[in-house]
Amino acid sequence: MKRISQSPTDPDFVQNPYPFYDRVRAIGDFFWWNDYNMACAVSHQTVHAVLRDRRMGRECPAELAPDIPPHLQPFYDVEAHSMLELEPPRHKRLRALVLRAFTSRTIAGLAPDIRALCHKLIDEFPDQPFDLLTAYAQPVPVVIISRLLGVPEDRADDLVRWSNAMVAMYQARRTPQIEEDTIAATNDFVSFMRGYIAKRRKTPTDDLISTLIAAEADGERLSEDELITTCILLLNAGHEATVHTLGNGTKTLLEHGVPEITDASVEEIIRYDPPLHMFTRWVYEDVTIGDHTFKRGDQIACLLAAANRDPVAYPDPNRFDPSRKGAQNTSFGGGIHFCVGAPLARLELKIALEVLFERCPNLALAGTPQYGDVYHFHGLEQLMVRA
Ligand code: HEM
Repeated sequence: MKRISQSPTDPDFVQNPYPFYDRVRAIGDFFWWNDYNMACAVSHQTVHAVLRDRRMGRECPAELAPDIPPHLQPFYDVEAHSMLELEPPRHKRLRALVLRAFTSRTIAGLAPDIRALCHKLIDEFPDQPFDLLTAYAQPVPVVIISRLLGVPEDRADDLVRWSNAMVAMYQARRTPQIEEDTIAATNDFVSFMRGYIAKRRKTPTDDLISTLIAAEADGERLSEDELITTCILLLNAGHEATVHTLGNGTKTLLEHGVPEITDASVEEIIRYDPPLHMFTRWVYEDVTIGDHTFKRGDQIACLLAAANRDPVAYPDPNRFDPSRKGAQNTSFGGGIHFCVGAPLARLELKIALEVLFERCPNLALAGTPQYGDVYHFHGLEQLMVRA
C-alpha cells in the first residue's frame, strides 16, 4: 500500500483538504496515511463497501482493548455504552430502543417548531456584521435536540460547553489540558443527566427521555448507564455535526449563489463539504478488498469526504451542483451505524436554509471564513456575514 504523509493540522490542508483527497484517490482504493499510521479507504465504492462489511466494525477487538489510564476512566465509562462504539448484539438492542422513540412521525412533527425558532433567531440578527454560527447555525440544532429530549433550554449553554469538551477528545492534537477539560465536562454532563432522568422517572412527560425510559424492545429496557450515555450521544451527535453542516453549507451557497432550497440542493450541500471526514472500522477476520488483505485487529479509516468527491460516483465532483442526482453521499456513514439523526439533520438544514434566505435575500459574507484546526470536525471557526 502506498504510504503518504500529510499532517492533518497543516494550515493549507485544514482550509482545503480536497486536493489531498483527489491526489490520494488517484493512487487507488486505499493508501496508508503515515500521520495516522492507518490504511485509508478513499474511493466511493470502497468506503461504501467497508462501511457495510460485517467482517469489520466499530468495537475494538477484546484482545486489543487499550489500558485506559485511570484519570480518563469517566470518559470511557460513558463511551462503553455508546451504540456508536458497539457491535451487535448490544448495538442492535440500543439502536432499536432509540428508534422506538425517534420515529419519523416525531421528527416530521418538529417542522413548525424549527421554522418558528429560525424566524425568532433572524428577528434578533444585528444590523452590523455578525457571526452566523453563534447567532443561527448553533442555536437551531442545540435548541431542537434539547427540546426533543426534554432538557431545559436554559441549560443549552452548558450542553454546548460539555459537548465541545467531550468531542475534543477525538482531535488529532490531544493535550493534557484537553483531557482534563473533557473529564470535568463528562462528570458534569453525567451528573446533570442522572438528576434529570431521576426527575423524569417520577414525572414522565411526552419528551424523548421519558419515551426512552419507557422504551422496551423484546422485554428489555435501557439500564441507567445506557440511558445516560444514549442521551449524551444524542445531545452531542445531535448538534455538533448539524451546526457545521449549516455553517459550511451557508458559506458554500454564499460563494456559489443561492439556488432554490430543495431536497436535492440540501443533499448536495451535505455531499459537497461535510463536517465529519473520517470514521474508522476494526477488522474482525482476515479479509481481502481489491488488491489489499487485512488481518484481524487492523484498522481502516473511511474518508467520507473523499468518497463524496470521487469522479466515478459524481461527474465533475468538485463542482457544487444543487440539482445533482446520483449516488447517495457518504456523509452520514453507512451500514448498521448509519446516522440515526439523518432525517432530523436533513429537516433542520432544509428549514433553516429556506427561512434564512427567504428572510435575508441580501445575506453576504463579511470577511473570509476560516476552518478550525480540528480535523475531527471540518467546520468554520466563525462565519461573519451581514444580513
Ligand atoms: C448533518 C448532520 C450530521 C452528520 C453529517 C452526521 C454524521 C454521522 C455519521 C457519519 C455517523 C456514522 C459513523 C460511522 O459509521 O461510524 C453518524 C452516526 C450517528 N449519528 Fe449522526 N450526523 C449528523 C446529525 C445527527 C443528529 C441530528 C443526530 C441525533 C439527533 C445524530 C445521531 C447519531 C447517532 C446516535 C449515531 C450513531 C449510530 C449508530 O452507531 O448506530 N446525528 N452520524
